[in-house]
Amino acid sequence: MEIKGSTKIAIVIGHPIKHSMSPIMHNRAFRHLGMDCSYIALDIKPEGIEHFIKGLRYTNILGVNVTIPHKTAVIPYLDELSEEAKVLKAVNTIKISEEKLTGYNTDVYGFEKCLEGLDVANASALLIGAGGAGKAVAYTLCKLNVKRLFITNRTEERAKQLIHFLTNLFGIDITFIPFDKLETLETMNILVNATPLGMEGIGEELNIPPSLIGKETVAIDLVYNPPKTEFLKIAESLGARTLNGIKMLVYQGAESFRIWTGIAPPVEVMEEAIKEYL
Ligand SMILES: NC(=O)c1ccc[n+]([C@@H]2O[C@H](COP(=O)([O-])OP(=O)(O)OC[C@H]3O[C@@H](n4cnc5c(N)ncnc54)[C@H](OP(=O)(O)O)[C@@H]3O)[C@@H](O)[C@H]2O)c1
Repeated sequence: MEIKGSTKIAIVIGHPIKHSMSPIMHNRAFRHLGMDCSYIALDIKPEGIEHFIKGLRYTNILGVNVTIPHKTAVIPYLDELSEEAKVLKAVNTIKISEEKLTGYNTDVYGFEKCLEGLDVANASALLIGAGGAGKAVAYTLCKLNVKRLFITNRTEERAKQLIHFLTNLFGIDITFIPFDKLETLETMNILVNATPLGMEGIGEELNIPPSLIGKETVAIDLVYNPPKTEFLKIAESLGARTLNGIKMLVYQGAESFRIWTGIAPPVEVMEEAIKEYL
């Protein structure tokens, strides 16, 4: 891809950022569609965020993705927020148009695509993890009227804060369950790992009591590297349907692409690029 004077640039910002998969899928999409655009990853230290975001409106940058640790820190410098970005207090996509900056959260859309075809309203679900991704997952499940939601997390207080936030927002009953009490639960319809356990380089696996997993279970791991974690291998061996984090990753990116360009994203091409890379 030749970068010329006319080339428009999209950027993902984070700290650190070198492991980001976003350049892989967006550059493949631009190339596939023959667009004069390119996507780069930029490491920005927290102390540089204010200057960077404030300056964006005066540039011809196509759009920005935001990842850890900046998803909340960028908010004070934006002009408008989408409903989901406002509620979750987390922005992963910035659109720049006519010197106006709008923040979006496309993680919710990405996870909603993972639940497509599932009868969420009649499902019992267990979420493992209550960080940024866990919050988007829990919000999506509640938005889709999940029948019963359990949340477990290493730090109990963080899970309880998330439950408080969701209960206020949706008025539904959500239960905190300590990790060492998981075996008291029945078989779940939906299990979601929103922790880095099982991820390459972490060296620790997620171990869920087998009694929670059956043929009626859909096990979703937000981890995508490796594509099949031990958690997914075990779930598969117990008859569950499984889904790794690639789908969420691709669809949140595809939605950013649509927001910036107004063009239907080539989702299959983006997914293929990630799979090839992994
Ligand atoms: N597929 C996708 O599109 C996608 C999108 C977003 C995130 N993710 C993945 O989801 C995972 C979580 O991301 P995040 O943004 O939510 O991170 P985060 O905000 O830092 O939250 C991390 C969560 O994992 C828990 N955790 C971390 N290390 C743990 C350990 N050793 N044992 C038990 N629990 C542990 C944390 O528990 P504490 O509260 O106790 O610290 C917290 O609940 C990452 O692997 C990330 O790559 C995937």
